[in-house]
Amino acid sequence: MYYLDATNLINDNELKKIALSIKKGKLALFPTETVYGIGTNGLDQNAVKKIYDIKGRNFNNPINLLVNSMEMVEMLAQNITNLEYKLMKAFFPGPFTLILKKKPIVPSIITAGSDTVGIRMPNNEIAKKLIQYSKVPIAAPSANISGRPSGTKLEDILDDFSDKIDFAINSGATNLGMESTIVKVINNIAHILRPGNITPEQIKKVAGNVIIETSHLPSDHLKHYQLNTRTTLVYSKDKNKMIEKIKSIAKNYKNPIILSFFEDCDYYHTTKIIDIGSKYNLQEVSKNLFSNLKKAEKIKSDIILIEGIKKQGLGLAIMNRLLNVCNGNFIEI
Ligand code: TXA
Ligand code: MG
Repeated sequence: MYYLDATNLINDNELKKIALSIKKGKLALFPTETVYGIGTNGLDQNAVKKIYDIKGRNFNNPINLLVNSMEMVEMLAQNITNLEYKLMKAFFPGPFTLILKKKPIVPSIITAGSDTVGIRMPNNEIAKKLIQYSKVPIAAPSANISGRPSGTKLEDILDDFSDKIDFAINSGATNLGMESTIVKVINNIAHILRPGNITPEQIKKVAGNVIIETSHLPSDHLKHYQLNTRTTLVYSKDKNKMIEKIKSIAKNYKNPIILSFFEDCDYYHTTKIIDIGSKYNLQEVSKNLFSNLKKAEKIKSDIILIEGIKKQGLGLAIMNRLLNVCNGNFIEI
């Protein structure tokens, strides 16, 4: 594997070389503004198959394509409606994936045999340049073994892939830290299939209406973001009730860890605590969420207890991820 350090400077010539290899079907770990992706030429089905293999990804779970222009969108998708154009105009480039009707050029391995394709235009210098220099759409799921948390820092995921990929580009922690919002327009109404940084409120402003339908992804029956330690999520609108509940569960364990919002950290006296950031700065909470989960799992413990948050604004996306993490162990009081 060839490692490129781009934490300070982005070396264009190096990126060009990597982009040309991607075009030829080599695999690269690289940053986007949301999470790290594992990418290859999205038009090369043999290359895409390698991504499924090394992630252990179910072939029924389609992979999105990253593009850098509307021309590329139109090369891949057809029958694009006015509302779809409007959404792309508003949110491309950015943490936004739109599910569109695919053209025949898109290999069926990308779409898991369906007639739609997920397209995103990332807003990250390195990702943009890789697409620009390779001149192909890059197939790029999140860079994690299927079922494990996404990677927002290269060091969190490199060990899982270093002997299976050709390139790894390190640019430090990603800006946003949570995967893109996925939207599909159905009967001329925008449906959010996965909440993310672009909130329902923002989409409603552009689309006039929005439906949140977060259990309709092809991957929704699969497990996501699983940690090696048992995890329970607790939420109550009443902060004191939430804290008391977490404390009472913690008592039953030898070595509990609590992931607490900054404002509540002081209420937990006896146990190990990871401060996940302020309730009033959910951007920061999102940015660090996956690395905080990984940090918690590295500490030896018998339970990870996590504070929940109101499903509003970015809180919706954060709770979506945490509900997956805790795998049904959710207590709402
Ligand atoms: O921010 C992101 O979207 C990151 C970065 C790397 O771009 N990528 C990412 O990819 O999160 P992945 O593969 O981990 O998640 C993509 C989701 C999957 O749940 C998949 O089922 C869904 O998008 N998806 C892909 N193509 C689809 C399609 N044609 N129809 C419905 N869902 C689709
Ligand atoms: Mg993923």
